[in-house]
Amino acid sequence: MSEVQTVKYAVEDGVGVIAIDNPPVNALGPGVREGIMDALATGNADPAVQAFVLIGIGRNFMAGADIRQFGGARPVSTRTSAAAIAESGKPVVAAIHGYALGGGLEHALACHYRIAAPGARVGLPEVSLGIVPAGGGTQRLTRLIGPKAALDMIVSGRHVGAAEALRLGILNEIVDVPTLRSAAVQYARRIAATRPLPSSQAEVRRPLPADELAVLFEDARKSLLRKSRHLKAPQKALALVEAATSRTFEEGLALEHEFFKELENADEAKALRYAFFAEREAAKIPGASPLVQPSPVRSAAIVGGGTMGGGIAMAFADVGVEVKVLDMSQEALDRGIKRIRDNYGVSVKRGSITQAQMDERLAKIRGVTDYADIGDCDAVIEAVFERVDLKQEVFSRLDQVMKPGALLLTNSSAIDIDIMANATKRPQAVAGAHFFAPANVMKLCEVVRGSATPIETIARTMKMARDLGKVGAVAGSCDGFAANRSRTPMMTEMMLMLEEGALPEQIDRIMVAFGYPMGPFAVNDMSGLDVSYEGRKRRAAADPGYRKLHIPDRMVEMGRKGQKTGAGWYRYAEGDRTPHPDEVVKQVIAEVAKEFGIVQRTFSDEEILHRALFASVNEACRILEEGKAYRASDIDVMWLYGFGFPRHRGGLMFWADSVGASAILAQVQEWHERYGKRWKPSVLLERVAAAGGRLRDATAPQ
Ligand code: COA
Repeated sequence: MSEVQTVKYAVEDGVGVIAIDNPPVNALGPGVREGIMDALATGNADPAVQAFVLIGIGRNFMAGADIRQFGGARPVSTRTSAAAIAESGKPVVAAIHGYALGGGLEHALACHYRIAAPGARVGLPEVSLGIVPAGGGTQRLTRLIGPKAALDMIVSGRHVGAAEALRLGILNEIVDVPTLRSAAVQYARRIAATRPLPSSQAEVRRPLPADELAVLFEDARKSLLRKSRHLKAPQKALALVEAATSRTFEEGLALEHEFFKELENADEAKALRYAFFAEREAAKIPGASPLVQPSPVRSAAIVGGGTMGGGIAMAFADVGVEVKVLDMSQEALDRGIKRIRDNYGVSVKRGSITQAQMDERLAKIRGVTDYADIGDCDAVIEAVFERVDLKQEVFSRLDQVMKPGALLLTNSSAIDIDIMANATKRPQAVAGAHFFAPANVMKLCEVVRGSATPIETIARTMKMARDLGKVGAVAGSCDGFAANRSRTPMMTEMMLMLEEGALPEQIDRIMVAFGYPMGPFAVNDMSGLDVSYEGRKRRAAADPGYRKLHIPDRMVEMGRKGQKTGAGWYRYAEGDRTPHPDEVVKQVIAEVAKEFGIVQRTFSDEEILHRALFASVNEACRILEEGKAYRASDIDVMWLYGFGFPRHRGGLMFWADSVGASAILAQVQEWHERYGKRWKPSVLLERVAAAGGRLRDATAPQ
């Protein structure tokens, strides 16, 4: 038996077992490719070896290339380990458990046979990192499963489960046994003598007639232009699948390399790599013991069956956790449950879940009207109307009924956690779990720490978020916490630019060109203009210096609340969601400007973009300065997963670095002089600018 760094090789029953052992996820880090090639060479020269098994040790088969190595200088080998597998004279069987992603799946595809455990997941997610597979993946997968299915997987980057992979023809067999390794050895012995060996670099299986193929690629190209016109990687991925249908394998490989080199250091890939690691960094909680595993939430209760409460209940049901929804009256409860049922119904109609899945999920949700019925739940999330007295009342009731050790969480989007905590005798159990609408869809869960919340409660709430398939990020308690607080100045500036003569459709156009899927005003029409109206009233009452936003206030007072009232920032025809610019909005703007003596002017696209985003960058710096977020990258994660900030821009602070802290500071100083105190530069922004540092690296004071 020989051991080559991260690859272990042993002969079992006449089969050479090549086991990848590169924790935590078996990425193709230094030494792995060489180790595989060495093992193959050894086994091919050994008459006692009839076949090979390629397998992963630990949680996964292989998670793909080591992302940390991208963008840096790497040794480029002329002969790759995937090619060595494909060229092996003796058959190689990939035995997949956990994930086989990117380069991991490429290695499996180069094998002659693939078997997997039932829980395995495979995919080529490279486009989500701004690159394309460059180890033959696009060429082999297209040949193996046909252009239609390959296009779907490679251009979207989505993972597929074992059952689907078997159906698509990626897998030869699913083996449901406790030890995949010995099953794989048996399988390898069975096929050892088969010749010729199957190859995924031969002809395209499941080919399409030329005319259908042309339509397939044309439609895919159009759909990309519609959905992700800003992104280069999916377009290149499409071209590679197309090449697999029209060129030789070698030509396809050369094209993969060419595109990979072109994309690897482009802004898109840099931003997407940053976003990948920022998300993982956000999961790390300073001060939490790595030895203590927080206990999972196995049952939950939601107080308040409104839109938000219902969405959160669905998020639990979607991952198979029993959840009770508590509302005051049977009538309110029935309305809430009906809304949940309707939402699931839409998903069934769209084909994203089956009727059986809908029934299964609905069965996890139980409506109750008595607090006594929820006391045994591991966690409760309050999602009632945003009124301080109401929240206090709910928390004092929860304190009476919830079992010891239960998490007492609030979905409040702005109210100080301490107010809720102080309404109980167990403030240490209270934290924020702030979801974003629609809660069953949006991936962000902002976990908010009150002054009495210990790190263990935060760690457990973060685990709950992760188990729900959400991306958690921690904030400190303050008005708006970190996500909404950092976004509010952007929205404020947009409203103030309207007073000065900009138009909603102009601002929307600029933000869409920046990369947002929809403009902020069109989104506001969807969510309802009245949602933020109450919050502004509350702030105005609390702060005599508060700058009122006359235009949105007036719109709500006129009954223009968005799509639900047929008009908001835009006008909507009956039953149609297409926004049409509206003269009435122009009139409101003109009236407000006249009433307050505001001079109207024109704005350049850059001024609009900078004024909106710099205001938020400055606020994000203040949040960090006050220790209300751990890291600038956490705020980026919040923007990516809570607000649909364009991922290929990395996040607010990552984008800010593309402008530069000094340039932003100079502009903020100028606007401070012109517009007054809301533009006061944050000390942290000044410090980073003076040091010539990067905003994305900023952290809370240690
Ligand atoms: N390269 C380098 N590091 C990687 C990695 C990769 N391909 N995949 C995961 N890691 C690291 C993560 O950064 C994390 O490190 P940390 O603990 O220091 O933060 C650790 O491995 C665990 O990853 P995590 O994502 O937290 O584990 P998970 O079990 O939730 O998910 C995967 C596992 C494999 C699904 C997920 O990590 C993933 O999608 N990885 C990227 C796969 C990919 O895109 N491969 C193609 C590369 S071209």
